[in-house]
Amino acid sequence: MNVGIDGFSFYTPKYFLPLQTLALARQVDPQKYLRGLGQYRMAVLPPDEDVVTMGANAAVNLLNKHSLDDVDLLLFATESAIDQSKAGGLFIHGLLKLSERCRVVELKQACYSGVFGLQLAVSFIKSKMAKKVLLITSDNARYGLATAGESSQGAAAVALLITENPRITALEEQAAFCSFDTMDFFKPNYMSEAIVDGHYSCTVYLNFLKKTWQIYQDETGLGLNDFSAFCFHIPVPRLVEKAYQQLDKHSALFHQEALLYYSRHIGNSYTASFFLGLASLLEQSSCDFTGQRLGCYSYGSGSSSEFFSMIVQPNYKKHLNTDYHMHLLENRIELDIKRYEEFYDFNLLDHVNGCSIPCTVHSGYYRLVKISNHQRIYALHTQQKDLERQVVDEKFYIF
Ligand code: CAA
Repeated sequence: MNVGIDGFSFYTPKYFLPLQTLALARQVDPQKYLRGLGQYRMAVLPPDEDVVTMGANAAVNLLNKHSLDDVDLLLFATESAIDQSKAGGLFIHGLLKLSERCRVVELKQACYSGVFGLQLAVSFIKSKMAKKVLLITSDNARYGLATAGESSQGAAAVALLITENPRITALEEQAAFCSFDTMDFFKPNYMSEAIVDGHYSCTVYLNFLKKTWQIYQDETGLGLNDFSAFCFHIPVPRLVEKAYQQLDKHSALFHQEALLYYSRHIGNSYTASFFLGLASLLEQSSCDFTGQRLGCYSYGSGSSSEFFSMIVQPNYKKHLNTDYHMHLLENRIELDIKRYEEFYDFNLLDHVNGCSIPCTVHSGYYRLVKISNHQRIYALHTQQKDLERQVVDEKFYIF
């Protein structure tokens, strides 16, 4: 049975900070960020957006080409959870008015849980436990103002539909994986920012790549020549350039620039970053990958990794959302350092008494309106009400 990705769409907030601006504010040579780390801009989450609104905003765009009525499993992968009990995906289930006959679960293992969600979705479909899976990966990467990791922050969500006879990529069965207890990057429950041992984390990322790629080759008998392109988890573009170098010196042959394009302009988005890379590779490369094999490496700090492969399906280009994604990226608002720091320092705890959260003009389709009785209340953005879609329930118009 052929199972894999039938459609995907990403969302990233409408605000960004140029890394040149950050460098000047932090008194760092801009070339360190632009060339040394290969990062040009970072997406910045406004106060009235979170992983739920980003995920819903990513998924709502799928409705242009797909029906979500028969989704019977929603997997929500994040490491920026908004609740320690309730799955963030249940808010999205409500906003999109998905069927009651749908399982909803949240997955966690750092940046790896998105790819694990993909594998889980494929096995649910193959074993007939689900017909159509909506996988949402959504994260806001935060390291703290003026920290070494600050330049690799970012935010995005990717929504994917996983089905039988997929129109974009089909997963192959072979996969190699690896886990080991490390403390390269972690986020205790009482903290809103990750603690990261930056250089150590990069070493672990590359060591895990070496191990999983070796296991994959040993177990499948496949080698570099069996792949047309590679898709990696992208925490920092420069690290992925090193990953390409580790696999093979001729990285240009494997479409490195196409893979990294979106991430260079968005930054890290943890669970979403692998899929942002996949979108970038397929949408930004002029090559036709039909029938070709993509090698895929996912890494999640802590640490777990996986190497697997996908076959690109005929006519896949017709099912991409390139124009929409480019429109999103080209119509963002540039922040100065003061506004960026205000957005960053916004503290939701000051708003748990039910007062409204400041409405930013350029939020996405859905926004976070307030927290009432400790419950998050989401709504259509006021400016979007004219574009109302049938999937949105009246009960969300409470402001
Ligand atoms: N001009 C050009 N290049 C310059 C430069 C200049 N003026 N100054 C420095 N550079 C180069 C350096 O030579 C270096 O290049 P090489 O790696 O090729 O040697 C590069 O810029 C970076 O310089 P530093 O190593 O000094 O940078 P840093 O100490 O500030 O930290 C970092 C870099 C560790 C990646 C940091 O950004 C960080 O901690 N990021 C967050 C953690 C992270 O993303 N880890 C990745 C693996 S963990 C993971 O995968 C999970 C996840 O998503 C987080």
